[in-house]
Amino acid sequence: MKVGVVGLGTMGAGIAQLAVEAGLETVGREVTDELGEKARGRIEHFLSRKVEKSQIDSFDIGLLSLTTDVSAFAECDVVIEAIVEELEPKRKLFAELERVCRADAVLATNTSALSVTEIAGATSTPERVVGMHFFNPAPLMPLVEIVRAERTSDGAFGTAYALGERLGKHPIRCHDTPGFVVNRILIPLLNDCVRVLDEARVTPADLDAGMKHGAGWPMGPCELVDLVGIDVHVHASEALWEKLREPRMAPPARLVAMANAGLLGRKSGRGFYEYGR
Ligand SMILES: NC(=O)c1ccc[n+]([C@@H]2O[C@H](COP(=O)([O-])OP(=O)(O)OC[C@H]3O[C@@H](n4cnc5c(N)ncnc54)[C@H](O)[C@@H]3O)[C@@H](O)[C@H]2O)c1
Repeated sequence: MKVGVVGLGTMGAGIAQLAVEAGLETVGREVTDELGEKARGRIEHFLSRKVEKSQIDSFDIGLLSLTTDVSAFAECDVVIEAIVEELEPKRKLFAELERVCRADAVLATNTSALSVTEIAGATSTPERVVGMHFFNPAPLMPLVEIVRAERTSDGAFGTAYALGERLGKHPIRCHDTPGFVVNRILIPLLNDCVRVLDEARVTPADLDAGMKHGAGWPMGPCELVDLVGIDVHVHASEALWEKLREPRMAPPARLVAMANAGLLGRKSGRGFYEYGR
């Protein structure tokens, strides 16, 4: 099987790493050669660390070829898109992929919050379009949601599911609804947690302790939002609110204010907690 990955940023590089680790021939596309090389460097670094820690015996970075040209996907069986989270660039890309890829190739999107059906609608063969929603960091998080859009064929869905397994993930099946499964549950739940900070006048540390020791969460909600990134959470929350108009989906004012103030969590050194740099 030959896999294509479009966009080698946070998610795409992680997905390409999984494909190389699984021994699959992998084509990665970035907008410039420099960005592609940077991603290859990161992939090689993480896989070398796995060898050092005896988590894998070896890997062959030669399986990864880089390109800036979409036509390099011509021989791929599955192409996974992981570019910016905006509908128009994704629709434009899928129309291009349809032109260059084999007629039986499956086209997958890693979108978190956009409609897979709307992305598929940019092609004249929406049957072969499916969602493959990995979680960040893709090499470490075991889950992938396999998302069936309105017109996804059983064949394309099955191919995406099998690829998820081949990449060492635990795939789950769902339909194309806002937030799919995990984010649809987790985002309003985290918003509730943040609202409780103000309502119950509890400190972030006590709230986190409450959920860890009283509900068995592996990590407290404030720690989790800091890890995800306050801005990333607010953005995802706004996207769900736009689609569902349920008050719990809307980002709490406290998080919006934090995002505007540059308190983005771990990556900025401060969110609910402070982190040493
Ligand atoms: N970051 C997360 O936590 C997360 C989790 C699950 C899903 N996603 C989804 O994955 C996708 C990518 O997110 P990310 O966080 O990796 O973003 P990112 O900004 O880190 O990476 C996107 C990359 O795509 C490249 N790119 C843009 N247009 C391109 C094109 N036409 N062809 C090739 N490359 C192109 C950019 O140069 C950039 O390197 C989004 O749809 C996002 O919603 C993100």
